[in-house]
Amino acid sequence: MYQIQNIDSSNVTRYEKLTFPRFRGLLRKEHQVSIVAGAASCYGYPAGLILAEAMEGGQNGKIHSLFVAPRYRNLGFGRELLLFAEEKLREMGCAKLEIGFIDDGNSMSAIKSILSKCGWGEPELDKEINKIDVFLLGKEGWLHRYHLPPAYTIIPWPDLLPTKFEELKAVEHKLCPGFASPFKDQPVSPHFSTSFWLCRQEKIVGWVITRLTAPDTLYYDILFVREDLQKTGRGVQLLAEAIKAQLREEIPFGTHIVLHSAGFSNPPLIRFTERRLKPFAVKTERYWNSYK
Ligand SMILES: CC(C)(COP(=O)(O)OP(=O)(O)OC[C@H]1O[C@@H](n2cnc3c(N)ncnc32)[C@H](O)[C@@H]1OP(=O)(O)O)[C@@H](O)C(=O)NCCC(=O)NCCS
Repeated sequence: MYQIQNIDSSNVTRYEKLTFPRFRGLLRKEHQVSIVAGAASCYGYPAGLILAEAMEGGQNGKIHSLFVAPRYRNLGFGRELLLFAEEKLREMGCAKLEIGFIDDGNSMSAIKSILSKCGWGEPELDKEINKIDVFLLGKEGWLHRYHLPPAYTIIPWPDLLPTKFEELKAVEHKLCPGFASPFKDQPVSPHFSTSFWLCRQEKIVGWVITRLTAPDTLYYDILFVREDLQKTGRGVQLLAEAIKAQLREEIPFGTHIVLHSAGFSNPPLIRFTERRLKPFAVKTERYWNSYK
């Protein structure tokens, strides 16, 4: 005997393990009109959970997570939960629906099959997160084989003089798009010994910003070179400097995000990643989106 119904506060704790920790807070807001939390049970046992939200003024319905406990898979729960959420989001007035999911190598075929049967669009690759074995990458010749032209220097992150820092702050909005700003507020600050500035004739024209997200993992957050100096090889040299510093610090892994979505993807970066970095990936997570 199975059932799909809205979750209520009395069974939140039984179902919360069926979604990611970052969405569990939403389950406690299940009474809010913008939230859909559908729970599937089988003979009273929690079998699956779908969590969705009406966003952007109620126009767009976003499915945050869909999960069926392994022992209840391939019995139709996934499809039923998706239809349940779709119906609720449509009732709220959502004209467009979106679902995001990660290809972890296990459920991709199942989710694609459900989406196609329910009339959703072909999944589109949004982004990839690679985890690179930097000790292996460190043996690559290109890392050690470059010479900066004389007008350039690469300086360690903490060595930037306060006057230069203020100078940069004043022109930052003209120099780089917001997502590449070195002043962007992030929960983890730049890792000093593996982040660098690129200078050309005393002016800051680029930076590589890394953040230590786990004791063994450095996240390469921003690699930026001033627009008119792009495609001159300086970006790769900055990156090489950071990777060599990471090797000196003996931090084994590096992670980075490559955007693939239309309007955000950077084809040269994608090609560079495929050729130079991905051969040393220990893990690649692909994030997909589908729309209806
Ligand atoms: C994706 C997931 C929700 C599917 O749940 P489910 O209850 O097994 O789904 P259903 O039983 O409704 O449908 C599964 C369909 O996938 C098909 N399927 C399963 N494995 C398959 C495979 N390896 N190749 C092709 N099709 C496959 C099944 O045949 C079934 O189709 P059918 O109904 O036509 O027979 C479940 O696998 C899961 O929780 N995975 C982990 C979380 C996840 O990846 N969620 C994605 C969204 S955030």
